[in-house]
Amino acid sequence: MKNIVCIGAGYVGGPTMAMIAAKCPDYRITCVDINRQRIEAWQSGEPPIYEPGLRDLVAQALGRNLFFSSEVEAAIEQADIVFVSVNTPTKGFGEGAGMAADLQYWERTARQILTHSDRPKIVVEKSTVPVRTADAMARILNSNPDNIRFQVLSNPEFLAEGTAVSDLENPDRVLIGGDLESPAGRAAVEELVKIYTHWVPREKILTTDVWSSEMSKLAANAFLAQRISSINSITAFAEATGADISAISRAIGMDSRIGSRFLQASVGFGGSCFKKDVLNLVYMCRHYGLHEVADYWQGVVSINHYQNRRFVRRMIAAMFNTVVEKKVAVFGFAFKAHTGDTRESPAIGVCQSLCEERARLTVTDPEALPNARIDLAGLQERVEFEPDPYRAAAGAHAIAILTEWPQFKELDYRKIFAAMEKPAFVFDGRNLLDHRKLFEIGFNVYPLGKSALTHI
Ligand code: NAD
Ligand code: UGA
Repeated sequence: MKNIVCIGAGYVGGPTMAMIAAKCPDYRITCVDINRQRIEAWQSGEPPIYEPGLRDLVAQALGRNLFFSSEVEAAIEQADIVFVSVNTPTKGFGEGAGMAADLQYWERTARQILTHSDRPKIVVEKSTVPVRTADAMARILNSNPDNIRFQVLSNPEFLAEGTAVSDLENPDRVLIGGDLESPAGRAAVEELVKIYTHWVPREKILTTDVWSSEMSKLAANAFLAQRISSINSITAFAEATGADISAISRAIGMDSRIGSRFLQASVGFGGSCFKKDVLNLVYMCRHYGLHEVADYWQGVVSINHYQNRRFVRRMIAAMFNTVVEKKVAVFGFAFKAHTGDTRESPAIGVCQSLCEERARLTVTDPEALPNARIDLAGLQERVEFEPDPYRAAAGAHAIAILTEWPQFKELDYRKIFAAMEKPAFVFDGRNLLDHRKLFEIGFNVYPLGKSALTHI
């Protein structure tokens, strides 16, 4: 039985290893992390992250061929194949601060692998990294005095949170980058292909050189983020001219060259990766002197920021240019539905701006309140947290829909309206609700990229 170890048991490492373990009973898989609390949660069978279907997936293999441990070094010693799935956030200090990827966690794992390996291993880069990181990893590893040879592969992950289990089970493609020029490199690529062919059709497994694989991951996220910024930029234009963004999304999405997905207007994209990966791309383009290319992609992030600010400005303008001491019910804090993750959530910026305007907020979210409390800790004088949306809205002047949780659609808005201050407003940052119906109840409704429906 081959031993697989994954360093980093987060949103990617945990679910990915659970899927490999469930599909490949002939491999023994250990997922390790320096965060003991996370590991204890995984060990207990209650994953530390909310992800539909994950609990059942973990249960299939936990204790059989899936193990979680905080003994990082011991696990590396046992491993034949090491996946690295540590975080690679935007650097917050020094050269490239605010733009480049912070590779300290990644490099630390490279040195740990080097120190705790007495035989050749395949190292698989799962984290999203700047182009040529695998090369740096290979240089560190192959610097060992005992002439142990490591093969470093790039195998970026394309799962999205909220649908991680189905994305892993039925991926659009699996991408593997390796040294296809050498027999050892080709053999390493084949080892990884062999794992995925346990459940992924062979024609969906692409093999390429390492750099193209690394760059494909950054380009994929940049293209996805760009679609959202493109449609969001049109919301501003639609509001100014009286057009309807839903009609526009439908009309352009039916062009098979454009496609209908990822055209949902929003208060902005969030999540731990889009902004960081696009900024990393911008940073690298500047490094190579490609300033026009860098400016192009920088625009994707700038429009996202603009959309967030624009949403708040529209709220304030609608509420008679002041929200001082007005209660606003924030419906949704997760960066998208079906996750408790709030990293880079657009709700953070909206809440901060409203607090600067001295509003009082009550935040409700089915899964993200624990993280919301942490994100808004500095604003605790102005923010309350309330799991029940009816109580969150009672006495509020406005509701801001910031996450597209389906359960917000099912609420009794007549009851909510009756308990609110008047005039009552709904600002729908996800175009989630039935705006005409809300208007008929008595709300003043401000959808995105559509004319407002107002009684005043
Ligand atoms: P995460 O923060 O949830 O998990 C990373 C884990 O690595 C943490 O639990 C951390 O404690 C652990 N870690 C850091 N250094 C370590 C070390 N030296 N030894 C052991 N453990 C260590 O991050 P994530 O969301 O899982 O993302 C991981 C990588 O995958 C990032 O590069 C990200 O860009 C990429 N990615 C993320 C997603 C996603 O949906 N979150 C999707 C595709 C790719
Ligand atoms: C995204 C990509 O979709 C994954 O393929 C990738 O692996 C991952 O980033 C990563 O590298 O981390 P994720 O951030 O989990 O996945 O979620 P998405 O569904 O892409 O949503 C990102 C943000 O865009 C959310 O805030 C979402 O609400 C927003 N969005 C998405 C829109 O505003 N409109 C849309 O049409 C789609």
